[in-house]
Amino acid sequence: MERIYIFDTTLRDGEQSPGASMSIEQKYEMAVQLARLGVDAIEAGFPVSSPRQFEACRMIARKVTGPAITALARSVEKDLEAAYESIKEAERKRIHTFIASSPIHMKHKLKKDPEAVLEMACQAVRWARQRVEEVEFSPEDATRSELSFLCRLVEKTIEAGATVINIPDTVGYAVPEEFGAFILKLMEGVPNIDKAVLSVHCHNDLGLAVANSVAAVKNGARQVEVTVNGIGERAGNASLEEFVMALNVRHDLLPYTTGVDTRQIYHSSRLLSNIIGFPIPRNKPIVGENAFAHESGIHQDGVIKHRATYEIMTPEDVGRDASTLVLGRHSGKHGFRRRLEELGLILSDENLDAAYQHFLDLADRKKEVYDDDLYVIVRDQIGEHLDTYELTYFNFQSGNMAVPTATVRIKTEDRILEEAATGDGPVDAMINAIDRAIGISAKLLEYNVHAITPGRQAIGEVSVTVQIKEGRYIGRGASTDIVEASARAYLNAVNRFKTAAK
Ligand code: KIV
Ligand code: ZN
Repeated sequence: MERIYIFDTTLRDGEQSPGASMSIEQKYEMAVQLARLGVDAIEAGFPVSSPRQFEACRMIARKVTGPAITALARSVEKDLEAAYESIKEAERKRIHTFIASSPIHMKHKLKKDPEAVLEMACQAVRWARQRVEEVEFSPEDATRSELSFLCRLVEKTIEAGATVINIPDTVGYAVPEEFGAFILKLMEGVPNIDKAVLSVHCHNDLGLAVANSVAAVKNGARQVEVTVNGIGERAGNASLEEFVMALNVRHDLLPYTTGVDTRQIYHSSRLLSNIIGFPIPRNKPIVGENAFAHESGIHQDGVIKHRATYEIMTPEDVGRDASTLVLGRHSGKHGFRRRLEELGLILSDENLDAAYQHFLDLADRKKEVYDDDLYVIVRDQIGEHLDTYELTYFNFQSGNMAVPTATVRIKTEDRILEEAATGDGPVDAMINAIDRAIGISAKLLEYNVHAITPGRQAIGEVSVTVQIKEGRYIGRGASTDIVEASARAYLNAVNRFKTAAK
């Protein structure tokens, strides 16, 4: 079986999803998990674009071992310099440089002719190759480029030192048969193609990103660029879990392997969802709530008689274990830590102590603590000390004869802010009080609430989408008290706005 290299761009293209920005520490947490998952390369960010991006790449390069730590750069020296500086301490490092090669991008965006583009690309690759062993080159919008120019560009950049050539379907325009044939033409039309690994990077605008990636592999691509949960620009990128499991389940037609430990898939998906605040759609393949649920009587009967009647893979294959009931108020710290470790949730000693306190508080309010509750506790723990605003006290009054009123106390780095306000209901009053305290007014666009675990004492999770200035931010908050969960979700969205602004 041939090996396919998995290049994960969750922390770069994925982070470009509207509302998905992550703090430096959150990117690092996710990178640690990606290494545990077994990807071959982690694209850690686009360092020239902001100090936060640069620092995140540097931290990941310093601390994460195993995968090649990659930074993105346009084909200009300022970008290349930042990319190199940010990853130079990595055990394995790669610079990924790109320039657009389609007529529409060259004419309208770059305002350059093809010869100038070719020259810039070769210069960038040479610059990078003088500093690092692994250099990846991407002709952006490759699928809408002229094939003869693309072949020449690829040939020349390999001559200049590129070790990986990545073919992006930047706008998600390709369809599988066509894309497979396109990859084959490149394999046949570039004389030195065997000197580099051919890679693909597919966007999901038509819902074909995974299918296109599979078609490319069948025609010679040996690296595939993916993101966890398929996040990325617009409709996203090819999803890691779907692509890897397609190879895994269909060995008969797709005789390829990857280095991914599929048992880490579910946890990676949950961790990302918690970090960026995007819920996983229930019907999402592999990781969605319903992906292994059988509703109709006929299906249930079939699965009981023989699991394979309606299941092409098992939940255990992707790290979804049947056991969900975990701990109660009498569970010790040791048992708590062990269960977190079984879920792949590794915390520093300091975070573990605080998370354990959180757990005891919760166990006091609610008899049974489930795995899903633990994910929430850990998410709050990782996120809390990074937040600009922390809700430390609240009080609200409401009733059918009273004007809903709320008081909040919010801690910032150097101050305690306290305010009170009224509203249409207790949630509205809380949000008004928060707005007054922090002096930011966000427009609430969406508000959803659902119970995370069963029972009347369940944790309720609120997710909100708010608009602040031009941006949209998603926030999540959880508590056994829905009004508190709402206030936390709102503040979480505001904290994301603050992180994105850094
Ligand atoms: O979609 C794209 O073209 C990209 C490149 C930078 C690889 O993300
Ligand atoms: Zn992309």
